[in-house]
Parts: sequence; structure tokens; C-alpha cells
Amino acid sequence: MELKGLNDSIDSWKEVNLIYNAALRQVQTKMEILNEEFQHVHQYNPIEHIKARIKSPESIVKKLRRHGLESTIDNMVNHINDIAGVRIICSFTSDIYRVADMIRNQKDIKVVAVKDYITYPKTSGYRSYHMIVTVPVYLSDRIVDTKVEIQIRTVAMDFWASLEHKIHYKFEGDAPSHIRTELVECARMVADLDARMLMLNDEITMISFQQEMERIQKKQQAKLKKAEAEKAEEGQ
Ligand code: GTP
Ligand code: MG
Repeated sequence: MELKGLNDSIDSWKEVNLIYNAALRQVQTKMEILNEEFQHVHQYNPIEHIKARIKSPESIVKKLRRHGLESTIDNMVNHINDIAGVRIICSFTSDIYRVADMIRNQKDIKVVAVKDYITYPKTSGYRSYHMIVTVPVYLSDRIVDTKVEIQIRTVAMDFWASLEHKIHYKFEGDAPSHIRTELVECARMVADLDARMLMLNDEITMISFQQEMERIQKKQQAKLKKAEAEKAEEGQ
């Protein structure tokens, strides 16, 4: 990462960069472990994939300027929550809340803020579950609680957000109204798709569960019959 626009020394900047990178890796690894464990216990992956990124110095400086703040490391650490960002992509909406709960239950992760744009979508149509957390980064002489922004969303929500972001960028936040209306309509369709896919999945899960129960019952009945037959034979 380059330094342009930040007024502190290169060494301080390098250290901050190292800390955010470490925090990012920690959260990413934690998520991968949770996913593997969930697969082991439930034979199912709540996480489709994970993306992680560090905000570019240009974006950091731009954001600070937008907030009317000087480009200093202090301002950046105190006022920008998304320097380290992890995006967790799930198949189903229910997985999002499952993953969020798993994050909340991790002892060393502190949840600083939550925004549920799924229950309360933005006027743009944007849906996602956001958490700002801190994780402790252990350095040789101290522990630094470091902020990471976690965005959790479905594959469909991610698809919508990518295109909307591209359009937003293209028109510098001022897209023609018919495009904005169309995006809101697409967001509604995405929400509907997510709900219907979840219902389908729930139905399939239920059928598999019933089939498994029937299989166990049949097995038990067969065992019982065999035992009775053996008993009857002994009695003769
Ligand atoms: P930023 O200053 O943009 O980081 O927003 P914020 O601090 O007010 O927080 P918020 O939770 O609203 O947004 C954080 C991040 O969510 C953004 O940086 C985007 O990555 C994403 N996001 C929020 N709103 C939208 C939206 O309308 N469209 C898309 N594509 N992404 C969004
Ligand atoms: Mg952001």
C-alpha cells in the first residue's frame, strides 16, 4: 500500500497497515473454521465464499475529506470503520443470521455496531447484514483491538449490489431515475427470489428428514420382527 495523502510517518503507516491486515486475516480464518466445523457437524456449508479487502489509501483519504477530516492515522483509525472489510456470501437468508450469531458467540470478537439492511432495506434497494466488530491483534508489546467491517449477504444480494455499485460509480451517484426505479424493482425481485429459494430448500430439508425417519423406523421394525421370529423359534 502507498502512502500518498497521509501526513504521518511511513513507519506508523506501515504498522497500521500490518495491524489491519492481521485483523482481516484473523476474521477470514475464523469464518473458514466456522464453516468447516458446521460442515462437519451438519454436513452443510452456511458460507458459499468469503472476500476480504483492505481499503485503498486513496479511498481512505477521500472518505476522510468527505467527513471534513485531516488525513492522519488517528482520524483514520477513529473515524473509518471499513478499512478492513470482509464480505461473507451465503446461499440463503437464514444462513446470514446463523453466521451473524456464530460471530456474536466468538468470545474474542466484540460487536461494535450492527445494521440489518435485510429487515430494513435502503431506499436504493440495497440489502445486506452489516457488523462492525473488533478483534484483538497481538503485537510483541501490546494488544490492539482492531475494527473490521463484516458484510453478510446472499449470492443474489451480492449480484444486485455489484451491478448497483457499478451503476452508482458510472453516474457518480446520480443515475437517471428510470435506472434507479429499475434497480429498486430488481431488488424486490431478488428479495422474492431469496424467499422462494429458502422455502424450496426448507421443503427439501423436511423431505430428507422424513425419509431418514422412515428409514430408521423400518430398520427398527425389521429388527423387532427378527427378534420375535427368533423367540418363536426358541419356544417351539
Ligand atoms: P460508507 O461510508 O459508504 O462506508 O457507508 P456508512 O458508513 O454509512 O455505512 P453503511 O453500512 O451504510 O455502508 C457500508 C458499505 O455497505 C458501503 O461501503 C458499501 O460497501 C455497502 N453499501 C451500503 N449501501 C449500499 C448501496 O446502496 N449499494 C451498494 N451497492 N452497496 C452499499
Ligand atoms: Mg464502505
